[in-house]
Parts: sequence; structure tokens; C-alpha cells
Amino acid sequence: MSSTQAPYHRLRPHPALTQHYARPEDKPGFVDNLFDQGAPHYDAIVDWGFLRSGAGYRRWVQQRHGLKPGHRVLDVACGTGLVAMEAAKILGSAENITCLDPSAGMLAVARKKLAATFVQGRAEAIPLADDSFDFLTMGYALRHVSDLDTTFREYARVLKPGGKLLILEVTKPKSQLGRFFFRVYFGQVYPFLSGLLTRSASAKTMMRYYWETMDACVPPESVLAALRGAGLRDVKRTTALGLFSEYTATK
Ligand SMILES: C[S@@+](CC[C@H](N)C(=O)[O-])C[C@H]1O[C@@H](n2cnc3c(N)ncnc32)[C@H](O)[C@@H]1O
Repeated sequence: MSSTQAPYHRLRPHPALTQHYARPEDKPGFVDNLFDQGAPHYDAIVDWGFLRSGAGYRRWVQQRHGLKPGHRVLDVACGTGLVAMEAAKILGSAENITCLDPSAGMLAVARKKLAATFVQGRAEAIPLADDSFDFLTMGYALRHVSDLDTTFREYARVLKPGGKLLILEVTKPKSQLGRFFFRVYFGQVYPFLSGLLTRSASAKTMMRYYWETMDACVPPESVLAALRGAGLRDVKRTTALGLFSEYTATK
């Protein structure tokens, strides 16, 4: 790097969670396995865990942030396709939607539900051309990438000039009381019920890990700074119910 270039940071979304893997470089293998094992249970768990609000919210938020028929969409970390399915309702079909995810298990579930283009890959190294998409979404997966800076530079690369980024996350509430209920629900109740109702230890671990990564995640200000650092503009965070973060930016 020449001395005139800005230093290139690599901000991890959270420190290594050593109860699950020893080193940061072991995280992708752990996470892939977690979602491969949990994939058959994911849709049901998310459906009741968020009181059946997930589909409606995913559609409303994409509409609110400007998704329109005719847009070419990339859904990063598509999982079982929950964000992309709602995008398809707004676009009128899935033919302009590309879904990216590293987990073969999650992709297998999504393929059965949606006639989109599916690509196995990671947010940090998107195997797609520059300036390709009008709208890029990432639902509830920011905590799973290796570093935010590389990820956001990739988003800036594959978006068309003027293209829009929408990242959805669950974020810890600000108030003490909110944090208490958040911890009890996501840290204890949700993983316990996920294990009980699915009779799957993998589903319980997946939802326990969901909480652990939310708890350890860098604050919203760091996410916003990383988005700006990637050269994106109009960087904003809006929240719904003080809990659901919507990060938006434009290329
Ligand atoms: C909690 S699921 C979210 C699925 C879906 N977007 C939704 O709204 O329900 C997280 C997804 O992130 C994917 N993922 C994990 N690491 C990733 C990475 N480095 N790049 C892209 N996706 C990743 C997982 O395979 C999993 O499908």
C-alpha cells in the first residue's frame, strides 16, 4: 500500500467465540456447519420466534427502502430465502433475483421455494461482476462475516452506481429493562424452545449462537463507520421497535 492511501481496517463483527471455535479463521467452517445442520428447522423457528411477523416485515422494509419492479436484486446470506421471497412478491417474479449463501443446506431449502439464481459463496468475496445490482439485501447475517470492511467493499463493488444497500439486523435495545428482556428471550427462552419443539440439538445450538453473536456484536456506530469507510454514501440506520436495525446506503 502506498503511504498516500487510507489504511485498510478489518473490523470483525464480534471477537472469536472461543466456546465454539478456537481462532477467528475457524469461524467460517463452524458457521457453515451450524447452518447446514439447522437448515431443515430454520423457517419454522423464525416463524414462531418472531410471532409470525417475519414475512410481512421483510416485505414492508424492502418496499419502504425503495425496492421496485424492474430492479436487479442480490440477496446476500439468503439462507432459506426469506428475504428474497418477499422481494419476489414486490418485483412480480424471482427472475431478477440472485441469492448468495455459503451453506449448501440453507441453499437446498431455498431452491425448493424460489425460482431465483442461486450462487454458493461468501459476502467477503462475492463471485459476481462489478456494477451489477440495483438493490442489495442482507438479512440477519452481518454477524457471520469475517470482517465488515471487506464485506462492505464487496457490496460497493457489485452495486450499480446509485444502487441501494439494505442490511437488516436485530440489535440489543438501549434501555436496561429492554436489555434484560432481550437477554432472557434470545439468550434462554428462544434457544430452549427451539430445541424442545424441533427435538434437534443443532437447532438449539443455532439459536443459542444467534444470541451469543448479537450480544458480542460491535455497536451500530461501528457498522455505520465501516459502511462510510467502504465509500458508500447516504449511510443511515433506522430502527423499528428499537430492536430491528435497518442499515441503508447508496453507491
Ligand atoms: C440467520 S440466517 C439469515 C437468513 C435470511 N437472510 C433471513 O432473513 O432469514 C444467516 C445466513 O447467513 C449465512 N452466512 C454465514 N456466513 C456468511 C458469509 N460469510 N457470507 C454470506 N452469508 C453467510 C448462513 O449460511 C445463513 O444462511
